[in-house]
Amino acid sequence: MPTLTGRHIILGITGGIAAYKSALLVRDLVREGAEVQVVMTPAATQFVTPLTFATLSRRDVIVEMFPATPGQPTAQWTAHIDLGVWADLMLIAPATANTLAKITVGMADNFLTSLVLALRGPLVVAPTMDVDMYQHTATQRNLALLRERGVHVIEPESGELASGLTGPGRLPDPAIIMDVVRAILAGRKRDLEGKQVLVTAGPTQEPIDPVRYIGNRSSGKMGFALAEAAVARGARVTLIAGPVHLPTPSGADRVDVSTAQEMMDAVLGRFENCDVLIMAAAVGDFTPAAVAQSKIKREKAGAAHLTIECVQNPDILRTAAERRSRQILVGFALETDNGLTHAREKRTAKKLDLIVLNDPRVEGAAFGAETNVVTLIGRDDTATPLPLLPKLEVAHHILDRVVHLLPPAR
Ligand code: CTP
Repeated sequence: MPTLTGRHIILGITGGIAAYKSALLVRDLVREGAEVQVVMTPAATQFVTPLTFATLSRRDVIVEMFPATPGQPTAQWTAHIDLGVWADLMLIAPATANTLAKITVGMADNFLTSLVLALRGPLVVAPTMDVDMYQHTATQRNLALLRERGVHVIEPESGELASGLTGPGRLPDPAIIMDVVRAILAGRKRDLEGKQVLVTAGPTQEPIDPVRYIGNRSSGKMGFALAEAAVARGARVTLIAGPVHLPTPSGADRVDVSTAQEMMDAVLGRFENCDVLIMAAAVGDFTPAAVAQSKIKREKAGAAHLTIECVQNPDILRTAAERRSRQILVGFALETDNGLTHAREKRTAKKLDLIVLNDPRVEGAAFGAETNVVTLIGRDDTATPLPLLPKLEVAHHILDRVVHLLPPAR
């Protein structure tokens, strides 16, 4: 069913090899009923001709700011201002490092960048470039600034790039971009206003000696998406993060921790005042019984084997459940075998209101992925599987359930 009927969307296309994939985006947007105005930078026309997009969008494509003949009046002279008001949303996909840099500082040197300054609605960018350009401090700082300003950044996918290098920089599948567009235009309700939400994210690190630790592969992206989604819905959010390299979602308070014990202290110190605790962190179950004060040397540790004695870490969720008054508790279960059975057992044992089951071996649910495939299991043990979705969308589904569990506002 068309979900974007009558919505006005500007698709900005900049000069990257992924520009050819934008044709699929135009097709999908039009199929869903949107009116699409394509705007290209001059560089983008080197990759795909405007005719392709004009045909798919059934509208003239705008590239130039000024008329072909100097001094002649043009119907497009104020078009950037008109379109800035017309648009319900502007999506720049692909967004090159160059255009991202320009819109970060507010330059208006072509039609597309001028339109960004005149835009009244939300802006979504899909950075797409070679891995080194993407990871460059300049690009990362620009993206952080754009996020701070409320721009929605769709992270690039990792994989083989046009240059032959491998890493983040690919334009995500159109389905993922469409999900983000739909979600933003759906204008989520501010249904967590006045609620205090505590989210944990990422791995923990248990020190062995001053340089080594026991950790895990959690990227923290699911927990960060939950924090972002909860802020968007009006909650006051504290994000307790293990060691991860992710920007803090704007509007969330972040507390960085390293060990499971530190995470436990950070959670319990804030638990009484919170309404919802979501434990998305991959908490290390074991920690070395003693931390060596100096680096363990190979010779001293013995020739072939090193045994590290470990003790169990406290279970944060169980401890919180024992102290709960009104709080809603949500846990995650990462399972590779008999997932439903184990997740249901965990939900009961930890006295949770909701458990989110995922299997990192399922395609699209791997550690560090931008997407996830989960099953939600509530108090009545009913399992609700969700399709492959961007983590932000998964976060909103989880929060939809949380909102229903909260006592009605007085
Ligand atoms: N968790 C926690 N404290 C711990 C370990 C886990 O609060 N020390 C939370 C996690 O954040 C997650 C849920 O409990 O929300 C399930 O974690 P998981 O490691 O899957 O559960 P365990 O009980 O440790 O079981 P397993 O033997 O499968 O690791």
